[in-house]
Amino acid sequence: MITDQQMLERWGGESLHVYRDRAADAWIIIAVHSTERGPSAGGTRMKAYGNLQEAVLDAMKLSAAMTLKFATVKMAWGGGKTVVYLTRELDPQERHALLLRLGAHIKNLSGQYYAGPDIGTTSDDMDVLHTVAAPYIFSRTPATGGSGSSSVPTAYGVFAAIRATCRQVFGTGDLEGKRILIQGMGNVGSYLSHLLRSEGAYILFSEMNAETVKHFEDQEGYELVSAEALFDTDCDIFSPCAQGGILDASSISRLKCRGIAGAANNQLSDPALHAGMLKERGILYAPDFVVSLGGAMGITLMEAERMPYEEVIAKVQMAIGEALEGIFRLAEKENCDTVEAAYRYVD
Ligand code: PHE
Repeated sequence: MITDQQMLERWGGESLHVYRDRAADAWIIIAVHSTERGPSAGGTRMKAYGNLQEAVLDAMKLSAAMTLKFATVKMAWGGGKTVVYLTRELDPQERHALLLRLGAHIKNLSGQYYAGPDIGTTSDDMDVLHTVAAPYIFSRTPATGGSGSSSVPTAYGVFAAIRATCRQVFGTGDLEGKRILIQGMGNVGSYLSHLLRSEGAYILFSEMNAETVKHFEDQEGYELVSAEALFDTDCDIFSPCAQGGILDASSISRLKCRGIAGAANNQLSDPALHAGMLKERGILYAPDFVVSLGGAMGITLMEAERMPYEEVIAKVQMAIGEALEGIFRLAEKENCDTVEAAYRYVD
């Protein structure tokens, strides 16, 4: 057991705000990891957790990942994150009221933290937050003057990361005929699949939602992989685009891929340990905080710096490709795993 003090020290963040929301039986956690480079920014994750400690830890880890994302591309932002831990189902009015109360908390932080969407929230929710927390909200709908979902720039970034990973593993970034296994066909996974297919890749997917499965099997003709077979399936690149923490000693020992590049945050359950295991198995791991930084980078460039969409999409892909190339080169040179190389690259 580690103490709360050790936990907070290891996290290395600046402040942790935990609010009890009695009306919705929920907890709101805002983790401000760093404001060293500039205000903190990060998404709003809304979902059920096993307990409060899990939710708080997730907010802490996710906010730290945001700091790394912005630092990788040297942007003047720091890492922050909101977790809304739901303990029961909410009807639409309750959920709306909860968002307004979350907005008041964000507003109270006076610009230390800017929120965007994440798992469980959408641009429509950002519109609601904006009514109370302007100007500290990113990724509103285009109808209200925002640049919409962050999933699109995220997907372009993951696409560039898969290409860079293939280039390193196979000596070519050509995706024709490459077998890419996507875990999670949510907003990012589905958009990514279309980008990959347009380059001739063969798409395999795993997905929990039955309707989504049907759509991608019947309408798009992708190959379905069951949840049980996920880690045992032969593929060139495995792209985790769902929840974090899926890579541990047991899943890593089963993997039959050459590289990993996906959008999910915090894929390794113990980064230092599991990055080493992947290296030993000869699987090239593209560090998740680099692969997935396109959302945060893209939205802040569009909304805070007013950069046009096409330019942003090009810049996101270029930045992620270059960062990964630098990280892979460093890992080779220093004979270390890619996560270690990524930390050194960011420094
Ligand atoms: N949720 C996105 C992530 O995890 C990021 C995001 C941040 C989106 C800021 C919009 C604005 O990186």
